Amino acid sequence: MTDLRFDGRVAIVTGAGGGLGREHALLLASRGARVVVNDLGGSMAGEGTDGAPAAAVVQEIRERGGQAVADSHSVATPEGGRDVVRTALDAYGRIDIVVNNAGILRDKPFHEMTPDQLDPVIEVHLKGAFHVTVPAWSVMREQGYGRVVNTTSAAGLLGSARKSGYGAAKAGLLGLTRVLAAEGAAHGIRVNAVAPVAATRMLASSLADARIGGADGRPADPAALEMMNTLTRSLDPGLVSPVVAFLAHEDCPVSGEVYSAGAGQVARFFVGRTRGYHNPALTAEDVRDHLDRIRDETDSFIPADPGVEMAHLLRSTTHHP
Ligand code: NAI
Repeated sequence: MTDLRFDGRVAIVTGAGGGLGREHALLLASRGARVVVNDLGGSMAGEGTDGAPAAAVVQEIRERGGQAVADSHSVATPEGGRDVVRTALDAYGRIDIVVNNAGILRDKPFHEMTPDQLDPVIEVHLKGAFHVTVPAWSVMREQGYGRVVNTTSAAGLLGSARKSGYGAAKAGLLGLTRVLAAEGAAHGIRVNAVAPVAATRMLASSLADARIGGADGRPADPAALEMMNTLTRSLDPGLVSPVVAFLAHEDCPVSGEVYSAGAGQVARFFVGRTRGYHNPALTAEDVRDHLDRIRDETDSFIPADPGVEMAHLLRSTTHHP
């Protein structure tokens, strides 16, 4: 089997000045892609700007013989997204890959949620993916080829306390991934997502915030902290990038899928549906009395699209269980 190469391909990686994005950019560039290293710089909460992190990654790529250009526009506005795409077109004349990775964190208990905690998180993660991908999409449609990799999170797919804005944005990216996969299919565009787990400043902050073993401001349990330290050492962000690279490659056969990636393990997340319970005269009491059956995962399945789910529903109205 040959190595997966990206010669001739142009990739945009957002938020590539550090953490996971940097690793994605380094890997793609080492395999021959010309890379736009986008990063606004700034703090993890999204405050401030700094062109240095993106420039440093570009420097690193060039020193290793790769090709890259730095871009420090924010993905959080439509103009910023257009400018990121413009950087790619001006530098390299095409776009084959968009990795939507930029992110910030502003965790708060839900009852303390304010617009200034919520809006920037939605703007960077969810709308940011729109802002960059919409202008890139026209280019991809025209050339009949494209790969988009979105970055979702277990915090959104499974739920995690204090992360309502973040979780909603990340779950929104699941919906966007599914819809774009459907829209891109006829144009050679495949769209997938990763749900990473990696030791970056973001994970460090999440863990510190959760005060592992030390709720309510009490000092954390040293044994629990040591366990977390050992765990985080195995979570090399470079172990997420191979999954991103595969999903960004021409040979990637799947679209609309979500892959968990961390510590060298790759797995698939999916939305499944139970067979359910049917009664043409359904009452609230029926739901109560048949909850086990409704929730029973035996013979559950993964509907490919809303049509398949609808077909199942209609079939069950004609075949009484
Ligand atoms: P990170 O904080 O190291 O990287 C995020 C990067 O995005 C930073 O370099 C930051 O400057 C950049 N950025 C923020 N706002 C931006 C904007 N408006 N425009 C352009 N760039 C901007 O954190 P990490 O962990 O590398 O996060 C990367 C992605 O992975 C994020 O989307 C995050 O939500 C996601 N993720 C990470 C997990 C982990 O375990 N580290 C878990 C689940 C998801």
